[in-house]
Amino acid sequence: MYDWLNALPKAELHLHLEGSLEPELLFALAERNKIALPWNDVEALRSAYAFNNLQEFLDLYYAGADVLRTEQDFYDLTWAYLLKCKAQNVIHTEPFFDPQTHTDRGIPFEVVLRGIKQALVDGEKQLGISHGLILSFLRHLSEEEAFKTFEQAMPFRDAFIAVGLDSSEMGHPPRKFQRVFDKARSEGLLTVAHAGEEGPPEYIWEALDLLKIERIDHGVRAIEDERLMQRIIDEQIPLTVCPLSNTKLCVFDDMRQHNILQMLERGVKVTVNSDDPAYFGGYVTENFAALYDSLGMTQEQAKRLAQNSLDARLV
Ligand code: HPA
Ligand code: ZN
Repeated sequence: MYDWLNALPKAELHLHLEGSLEPELLFALAERNKIALPWNDVEALRSAYAFNNLQEFLDLYYAGADVLRTEQDFYDLTWAYLLKCKAQNVIHTEPFFDPQTHTDRGIPFEVVLRGIKQALVDGEKQLGISHGLILSFLRHLSEEEAFKTFEQAMPFRDAFIAVGLDSSEMGHPPRKFQRVFDKARSEGLLTVAHAGEEGPPEYIWEALDLLKIERIDHGVRAIEDERLMQRIIDEQIPLTVCPLSNTKLCVFDDMRQHNILQMLERGVKVTVNSDDPAYFGGYVTENFAALYDSLGMTQEQAKRLAQNSLDARLV
């Protein structure tokens, strides 16, 4: 029924690799690494995926990531995601990874990076999916800790195209990370940031003016500020929107209230992405399908959204 959506060539520009960890793989890795889990089985874990806000999700997301221990684990995680891309005609992806989620548990930075990067390189060769990897800082931690992570990353500078900013938005404004983003740009890296998911339009202004971002991750609250809307339309600043994520985390109560098509029709360069597909009920095609089912998205709109994703690539 959604074959035509699946068949559209598209890019994914907002995907957390740790958020693509399906419960089945989570259990398999727990067994491989001899880790006891607090859930009896896959079904019990899946039924815990009910969230009232971003923080409730993040608590489970960080707990789930604890099964990722070895280079092979990170490879398997990334490879499983790339197979989904292949099945959904995602021809290019710019995924995030959160090194601090792992280094804070004693997993060396290079173990995480090598596993992810090897899978991405193999995906390029064997599946024909191109990529650009984005190193994301956890905003609930300090800027000093972000600097430490950046120093660990520098020996692998060429493995990345950009730095990003994710985790708990409220109370952690973009300005907290201005200096580390300056440093990243001085090394030739591009920048993106989550802003305006739960946080106010002011955080989007800061991300643009202080962090000098190329794209806004989420950004759905931009619609509350007309001057900001005009700017993102005039400058054609892409928004990486994640519809299923937004309803699962109660940013919108119902998909019928989602503003993505309204933004599209106003000339905002919006794109469709899956964010954390293992937790939110689907990959890119399922996100497109939700817009078709709940918002009456037309074929022409779907094509424009897919084209936007290809145009908004960083590489
Ligand atoms: N928002 C912020 N941080 C995140 C998200 C998100 O949607 N997913 C994973 N980390
Ligand atoms: Zn995200």
